[in-house]
Amino acid sequence: MSNNFNEAKMSAVIKEFTVNAEELAEIAAAFRHDLKRGLKNPDDSSLRMLKSYVGLPTGKETGEYLALDFGGTNVRVLRIRLMGAGQYTEVAKVAKPLKIDGEYDYIGANSNAEEMFGFLADLIGQAVDGDKETPFLLGHTFSFPSEQTDINNAKLIIWTKEFATPGVEGKVVNDLLTEALVARGYKNIKPVAVLNDTVAVLLSAAYKHPDTYIGSIYATGHNTCYLEPYAETGETPMILNLESGGFMKLVPNRFDIMFDEKSEKPGEQRLEKMVSGRYMGELFALALADVTGEKDAKYDFTAVDMSGIIMDGSENLDNAGQIINRITGKVFSQRELMLIKELAAAIVIRSARLVTATFVGIIWQTAGKGEVRMQHIAVDGSVYEKMPLVKENINRALTELLKEQSAVVDTVLDNGGSGLGAAIAAAMVKAG
Ligand code: GLC
Repeated sequence: MSNNFNEAKMSAVIKEFTVNAEELAEIAAAFRHDLKRGLKNPDDSSLRMLKSYVGLPTGKETGEYLALDFGGTNVRVLRIRLMGAGQYTEVAKVAKPLKIDGEYDYIGANSNAEEMFGFLADLIGQAVDGDKETPFLLGHTFSFPSEQTDINNAKLIIWTKEFATPGVEGKVVNDLLTEALVARGYKNIKPVAVLNDTVAVLLSAAYKHPDTYIGSIYATGHNTCYLEPYAETGETPMILNLESGGFMKLVPNRFDIMFDEKSEKPGEQRLEKMVSGRYMGELFALALADVTGEKDAKYDFTAVDMSGIIMDGSENLDNAGQIINRITGKVFSQRELMLIKELAAAIVIRSARLVTATFVGIIWQTAGKGEVRMQHIAVDGSVYEKMPLVKENINRALTELLKEQSAVVDTVLDNGGSGLGAAIAAAMVKAG
């Protein structure tokens, strides 16, 4: 054997990543409880409960809008034409990463707000082919916790997803964007709405299918929003961005704790660090290093590597072995590879179960003492879309928690909802 792989240790580690039925139900109940407290006073909850100042669309929204989708490593700007009746077309699209190793980096600590928003404004300029005359309304999907006072005024509370650009926290993001646009002569482009990506996904899905009240992103980051009906107070229903990635009423394992301590923002985003694509690879790396007895090893596994390992269905696990060898430099036996694959699967399954528990917490809270209503949960993001084991484990967990009531609830992929939702929000502002 070429390494210190310890089988007994591996089984124990896999167990640490396992959430049994009882724990799952406890987490869903704890989420519901936090939500209920947060509705009364967000300070008493680990959920931020951020107001979006928008409800659901009618599906009749029309017109052409610009959508800036900013929230992960890739920024997209789209021109979207809404035709009403849930119909739309993408007229133009430009996309660029915020960071290219060795070339530029707008999300690191050495960047600044002006450079970052300048980059965004330049990309918007490209999407309109440099047109400085035609008026455009722009919807801005800004996918970080922000405090809003109306639909166009959002102040970044804190960066998440390891973004570290100085000078943006505490600022009104569309002021920064407008300044950058004006500085480049784009006085014709007017940001009119800013919204979280979860809110955008919910708007986009609800534009196409009624019966959608929950929107979620399950990708680099993870977060969920829902339409709060305010049944008790009679206020106008509004979408609340929970920033559920910050949910804290969980029991982190050793690896969760280890990773949190070395992250950009220790103590923050505890659920997100257990479930989202940005972090899964890091947890896997820490757990594997523990099993092979290498405390300080820094293996660069990503969620994509994990997906490759899990997808290797062959008996000899050659592909999985190659991925692991490329990253660790080590050769593992077939049996060891099988167990490593099980570890990757356990991390993914835990992620899907925890995410589902939060969905069910929302469903329980909105149903109150009544029946669970028929509904779709709209989800966008690469982990939901592409990671093996995720969809089936979401379904399994939905059934475990909701029992026969799970028949009326399903999750649906809303691909690209972040951009479409931004255009819909702009249209909703225009319609008044
Ligand atoms: C992070 C952000 C949140 C966003 C999510 C998905 O959790 O804080 O606002 O919705 O990532 O992009």
